[in-house]
This record gives sequence, structure tokens and C-alpha cells, in this order.
Amino acid sequence: MDEMERANFGSKLGVILATAGSAVGLGNVWRFPYMAGENGGAVFIIIYVACVLLLGIPCMISEFIVGRHGQSNTARAYRKLADGTPWALIGYMGVLTGFLITGYYAVVSGWCLQYVWASLIGHLQGDPEYFKTYFAELSGHPVKPVLWTVIILTLTYLIIEHGVRDGIERASKLLMPTLFILLLIIVGASCMLPGAEKGVEFLFKPDFKKITGDVFLSALGQSFYSLSIAMGCLCTYASYFSKHTNLTRSATQIAVIDCLVAILAGLMIFPAAFSVGVNPDSGPSLIFITLPNVFQQAFAAIPVAGYVVSLLFFVLLSLAALTSLMSLHEVSTAFVQEELHTTRKWAAAAVTIATSIIGAFCSLSLGAVDGLTFLGRSLFDWFDFVTGQIFLPIVGFLTCIFLGWFAEHRVVRDEFTNFGTLRGSLFHTYIFLIKYVCPLAILLIFLHQFGLLS
Ligand code: PHE
Repeated sequence: MDEMERANFGSKLGVILATAGSAVGLGNVWRFPYMAGENGGAVFIIIYVACVLLLGIPCMISEFIVGRHGQSNTARAYRKLADGTPWALIGYMGVLTGFLITGYYAVVSGWCLQYVWASLIGHLQGDPEYFKTYFAELSGHPVKPVLWTVIILTLTYLIIEHGVRDGIERASKLLMPTLFILLLIIVGASCMLPGAEKGVEFLFKPDFKKITGDVFLSALGQSFYSLSIAMGCLCTYASYFSKHTNLTRSATQIAVIDCLVAILAGLMIFPAAFSVGVNPDSGPSLIFITLPNVFQQAFAAIPVAGYVVSLLFFVLLSLAALTSLMSLHEVSTAFVQEELHTTRKWAAAAVTIATSIIGAFCSLSLGAVDGLTFLGRSLFDWFDFVTGQIFLPIVGFLTCIFLGWFAEHRVVRDEFTNFGTLRGSLFHTYIFLIKYVCPLAILLIFLHQFGLLS
């Protein structure tokens, strides 16, 4: 596609909602609450917000700069800025990370759809033991989760195939406000339960004795994941921004929305959990095992309310997953379309098929098929580990170093200030952060993950 006729988001709101749609996802509704639960509640949230503002936003701006300057898929965008140097490899790694994570993210998104269905037909009712078995049976089933994975990827395909404006932007404008309204409804219901104040207190009343290095580094890791940093998504979406989009302001708005949704997700889950005496630190199973139980018990007096809240909740989770999946899918679709010179339809179809296969294998590795476990980790865990804990920090780190130290300074400044039309008074702060603070912080998370720093 010629640069002149490259697709664009049609409006500022479209830019914000689509990119916020990428950021707001399972990371906010599923991962953030259990991370906050395991890491001391309010203190985690304070550190998390600080990480988003100080480190997340500059990293986001960096990817926007590469993407908008490149006006192309992530690999080509880095290649353009790298000007023949090996820094171009970061772009390929970003695309690969985005591609690999799509299939695995689709599996968890598929579970959400299955839970929507189960809520709808009234299968999400029973005692705590039942919910445990239900989840174990679902995730280890040879057919069902694979089918749901393919269904959600097909849905994503149907949106993506319509292009940037009619597909991604239009869907985001519909899905994001819906998600926000559903969230507010459930927060309201949850906070009205008896004993809900304890949950609110857990989220907002910091106990500074709980701060440890662990809390700090978990918050840092979570902030990067939640903002969709280093997966090629931000870079790809930024290539659809217009040259008038204010990158700093957009990054700030998206980060604020992302934080807000994460905190609201906490406000939806903890008051209900405390109200029925469930521990907030039950880990990744919080949403799929603990929560249906919490909703059921909390609304025992009015079973219809329990039914509705549970259904709304899983619809919300699926919508959040879908908008993130769209951005992940778009990374590879734009790559295939532009590098292999295919039509958008073909590119999207090829990516859907390839990621469905990855997703199917990831799903089957959770118990249905033996032999998909290597070195004690299932294929599913491997994808999670390699993308989230190895590729993400490497791509994020290299992007900061590249833009801060090696890329043409004039290009970075031009993009930051929209070619001098914005004052860019924060430019020096931004450069300082990506030159020193962000790479150092990412290095710390990386070492921490491998136990090299405790
Ligand atoms: N940020 C998304 C979330 O919070 C996850 C994601 C990561 C999506 C990377 C796209 C790319 O769930």
C-alpha cells in the first residue's frame, strides 16, 4: 500500500478507544486483581500507578514514535528507523512476540466465552468444589476449549478483515463504552453487599509494611503487560495515527483509562470477595474459580441478581479480551499483508489459521494430550513464559536504548513534537526517562524474574 493511502483512524476518539481497547484486557480484569491481591492491595496499587506514569507512558510514547514514523507494520517501522543497522531486529522480535502471544491469549479468551455460555444456560451454580472441577474439566477438555479458541479468533478475524476504520475503530467505539458501563454496574452491585467496605479498604488503605522488592517488581511487570508494551501492538496502531495525533497526550489518556479500569476491576472483585469471606490472594484462578462462587454466595438472597451479575461479568471479560486480541491479531496481519504483499483478507485469514493452530496446541497441553509438556512446563506455560517474561522485557529494553541512544534524534524530536507544532516541553524529561530510568527498571524486572535479584 502506498504511504499516501495508508489507512488511518478516523478520529481522535477512535485513536484513544482502539488503543485503550488493546491495553484494557484480561490483564486488567483477570491479572491485575489477583496480582493486587497477592501483593498487599493498596500499596501495590500505588506503586503500580507510579510505574505506569513514570515508566509505562515513556515506553508507550517510544513505540508510538517508531510506529507513526514508519507508517507501516512493526518490522518495517523499526527497519526504517534503524537505517540498515541490526536495530531493525527489534521490530521482527516485536511481531514474533505479538504473533506467539495471540494464540495463547485466545485460549484464555475462549474460556471467557465458555463461561458466558455456562452462565447463560445456568451451569455456573454449585458449591466451591464444583467450580474447581468445572474449571479443571473445561481447561483440560480435548475439544471444547479448542472450539472456543477458534470461535474467538474467528470473531476477531471478522472484525479485523473490515480494515482499520470500519473494523477496529468501529468495533472499539462500540465495545469500549459497553465494557465501561458493564463494569460500573457490577462495581455498584458489588459495593452494595454487606461487609463490602473491607474490600474497599483493602484496595485503598495502604499498609506500608507490606512493601517489598517483590511488590515493586510485580507492579512494574504488570504495568508493562497491561499497557500492551513490547508486543508490536502500540507500534502497529500508531502507524494508523494521523500526523496531528498528540502522542504524549494520547499515551497519558490511554494509561489513565487503563489504570482506571484495573482499579474498577479491583472494586468489582474485592468487595464481593470480602463480603463472603473469600481470600483475595487465590492467584490466577481468582476469576474462573473463586468469582462465580463469590457471586453466587453474595447474591444468594436474590438468585436472579447473581445470575445477571455473573453473566454480565463474563460478557465484560470477553469484550475486554476481544479488543486486545484485535490489536494482537493486527500486528501479524499488517506484517503479512505488507511484507508478503497480499490482500488484507488473505493476511487476516492466514494469521487466524496459524494462531488457531498455536492456540489449539496450547489448550491441548493443559491436560488433554500428553507429550505437550517440556521440561516440566506445558506448552501453554511456555508461551506465557517466553513471550511475557523473556521477549517482552527484551523488546521493551532494546526499544528504549535504541530510541534514547542510537536512533536519529531529529526524528524522535519531530515525532514527539509533531514536527515542531507542539511545544514539547516534556521532551527532555522523556529522553532522560528512556535513556536511563526505563532500561534500568526493565533490567531489574528481568533479573528479578530469574531469581537473580531478590
Ligand atoms: N494489555 C492487554 C491486557 O491488559 C494484554 C495485551 C498485551 C494485549 C500485549 C495486547 C498486547 O490484557
